[in-house]
Amino acid sequence: MKAVVWCAPYKVAVEEVPDAKIINRRDAVVRVTSTAICGSDLHLVDGFIPFMKAGDVIGHEPMGIVEELGPGVDQSKVKVGDRVVVPFPLGCGECFFCRRQLWSCCDNTNPKPRLAEELFGQSTAGILGYSHLTGGFAGGQAQFLRVPLADVNLQKMPEDLTDHQALFLSDIFPTGYMAAEACDIQPDDTVAVWGCGPVGQFTIRSAQLLGAGRVVAIDDEQRVPERMEMARRAGALVIDMHDQYVHDRLLDITGGLGPDVCIDAVGMEAHGYTALTAAYDKIKTNLFMETERPHALRQAIECCRKGGTVSIPGVYGGFSDKFPLGALMNKGLTIKTGQTHVHRYIGELLGHIRAGRIDPSFVVTHRMPLTQAPQAYEMFREKQDGCIKVVLDPAR
Ligand SMILES: NC(=O)c1ccc[n+]([C@@H]2O[C@H](COP(=O)([O-])OP(=O)(O)OC[C@H]3O[C@@H](n4cnc5c(N)ncnc54)[C@H](O)[C@@H]3O)[C@@H](O)[C@H]2O)c1
Ligand SMILES: [Zn+2]
Ligand SMILES: [Zn+2]
Repeated sequence: MKAVVWCAPYKVAVEEVPDAKIINRRDAVVRVTSTAICGSDLHLVDGFIPFMKAGDVIGHEPMGIVEELGPGVDQSKVKVGDRVVVPFPLGCGECFFCRRQLWSCCDNTNPKPRLAEELFGQSTAGILGYSHLTGGFAGGQAQFLRVPLADVNLQKMPEDLTDHQALFLSDIFPTGYMAAEACDIQPDDTVAVWGCGPVGQFTIRSAQLLGAGRVVAIDDEQRVPERMEMARRAGALVIDMHDQYVHDRLLDITGGLGPDVCIDAVGMEAHGYTALTAAYDKIKTNLFMETERPHALRQAIECCRKGGTVSIPGVYGGFSDKFPLGALMNKGLTIKTGQTHVHRYIGELLGHIRAGRIDPSFVVTHRMPLTQAPQAYEMFREKQDGCIKVVLDPAR
């Protein structure tokens, strides 16, 4: 079968790889019909996530049709021929964490926990197509995908939704939703969202679904005008990080208080123009003396009103320097974060889609053959051709 493989930093390729097959009794094989590229995949391509090996199949936002089931799968939950979305974290459904709906913290689905134990103190869940730190599972940017514990992980989708309406339940819609939901948003709250990428877009709309009084979106008007425009169309007030001093603008529009809720939907590869620390991060990460560039997160903490909440859906992998712990502590901020507990949100978000409150297909700007994955990665990474979200089609 054909699949997208990670070759080395800045290089992915489409190669013939061994077919996905049933290995354990509760596995499924899914024929992938649509599979998206995520900002998290850029962290792999840019070499920010450790423990990748040449030849690893990547991708963690897939959906498709169940092709084959192992003999141990509970067929009252899923059958051959079902149309399914696959959440990016794998749950077991039975451990301490899954029972508390903390699916991305599952204790049983990372078969290589040693690396994560060393880096994080404890291992988190296995994640499809996302390095040997999270299990070394072959990912979903492929014609076929093996999914362990299929009766827990496969999420059946109604036939009347299109792929582009259902696909983002695998990751970015629940991710934006969890980031906003964690903040106990009140009707008069100002919610500021850093990053207008796909995750930022779903965060903006989720904050609105949850009743935010006002949403402000921050990104780079010169580099990604189409993302700013998409945020404006959703009703957000937009601040250009490029030529406005973000902190002053946010305080101006909140009567000097700062936003009640600040959400970092940028993650470990933030750009910065105004702060000296941005240059510092760039030099230190290039010299491998720091693992990430937390520019947006620092700014979110500095801007947030006293007693407010900072939510971090953006991915971080290691150790950040110049982290404003003093501001965090003295202003009494609450931090919310995590890899998304995708399974927990599927039913609720399907409800929003079916009620017509949101149509997740709004975010798709490109659909391309899987065979053109290297070009698709390049375009998404460089923000070319107005690219906001690319879906790959494994049948082409
Ligand atoms: N928590 C989770 O489970 C989860 C799931 C999916 C994605 N993510 C993470 O969410 C983040 C965003 O994903 P995406 O797909 O939207 O990525 P993306 O790369 O497409 O978008 C990031 C955006 O941030 C903007 N940006 C960069 N520096 C900025 C700054 N200083 N201030 C404001 N904006 C800035 C960029 O211009 C870009 O538009 C990534 O870190 C990704 O790994 C987390
Ligand atoms: Zn993702
Ligand atoms: Zn579990």
